[in-house]
Amino acid sequence: MDLYGGHAVISIGHNHPHFVEALKSQLDKISFYSNSVKNSLQEKLADKLGQVSGYPNHQLFLCNSGAEANENALKLASFVNGRKKVIAFKKAFHGRTSGAVAATDNPKIVAPFNAGHEIAFLPLNDEQAFIETINTEISSVIIEGIQGVGGIILPNDSFLQLLSKKCKEVGALLILDEVQSGYGRTGKFFAHQFSGIQADLITIAKGMGNGFPIGGLLIHPDIKPWSGMLGTTFGGNYLACAAGLSVLEVIEQENLMSNATTLGDFWLEQLSTFSDIKAIRGKGLMIGFDLPDELATLRNDLLFKHAIFTGEAKPNTVRLLPSLALSKTEADTFLEALTAELKQTVSS
Ligand SMILES: Cc1ncc(COP(=O)(O)O)c(C=O)c1O
Repeated sequence: MDLYGGHAVISIGHNHPHFVEALKSQLDKISFYSNSVKNSLQEKLADKLGQVSGYPNHQLFLCNSGAEANENALKLASFVNGRKKVIAFKKAFHGRTSGAVAATDNPKIVAPFNAGHEIAFLPLNDEQAFIETINTEISSVIIEGIQGVGGIILPNDSFLQLLSKKCKEVGALLILDEVQSGYGRTGKFFAHQFSGIQADLITIAKGMGNGFPIGGLLIHPDIKPWSGMLGTTFGGNYLACAAGLSVLEVIEQENLMSNATTLGDFWLEQLSTFSDIKAIRGKGLMIGFDLPDELATLRNDLLFKHAIFTGEAKPNTVRLLPSLALSKTEADTFLEALTAELKQTVSS
């Protein structure tokens, strides 16, 4: 039983029949490749995403991965305000790329930050540090809806509200990286929607394609695109769009966001009854908890004795990011395995 889904990639379940059929139905279009002609599925995907996500007026730029979505968000912010300083947060994870733009000698694409972005890393939720750092030189502030790789760490609602307010005051763009925490995982479409703020730019990937590579950037309607502003060779291809569209249809038809809330609340409550489990945190089906050193083998025991796969963050955090279609029976199976293992470990 997979309770990790390749870091939140499996949103609607492995091998979902509607998803598989949607991909098969586009296979014959694979040779109709063009990166300059918009295919009809892109518009359908953008409309559906706007409707399901609560961002109906944001524009959609399609790419292939989360890192690419973040690169484009940072770059777009620099194009919009002509600045290159960025505020990010400690323990953040936004991707593994660097340098392609900086090494490109084409002013249309690289200006105004061809020397690279200057990034200030601040402690998450430290309002004072943020107030002292934000100013009219800052191009963008980038923050995860919930920090995933860093160990399931939540920004406070008041912190996100402060970021939103200050960014507006100084003309910086607020980028919400929802690559891991988005797509209904927390019970709302985006984790930052719990705080009531609206983001200028939102980056998405992982759960968007349920395993098929696709990423995207939602862009505030006030930002008007111009030719060449953003580009991609493969972004928005037929197969990716078919995958993305079918994921949204399943999330909607099977009420997966409400399932994530119900089972997430259930797990959060049940996990708190295990005295060895510390610092339980998360929202919906994005949950983390810490283990004492003597229980560090728990993940292996769950895998090899109970065939249950969970994720981790260093040093001793267990991360749960299952499919949003998790059933109550599966949620119970995990708790039963946990009961068996924690008892055994405590008594041995
Ligand atoms: C929050 C976040 N942003 C961005 C990325 C990068 O996404 P990708 O691996 O698709 O480039 C990740 C990947 O783990 C992530 O967790």
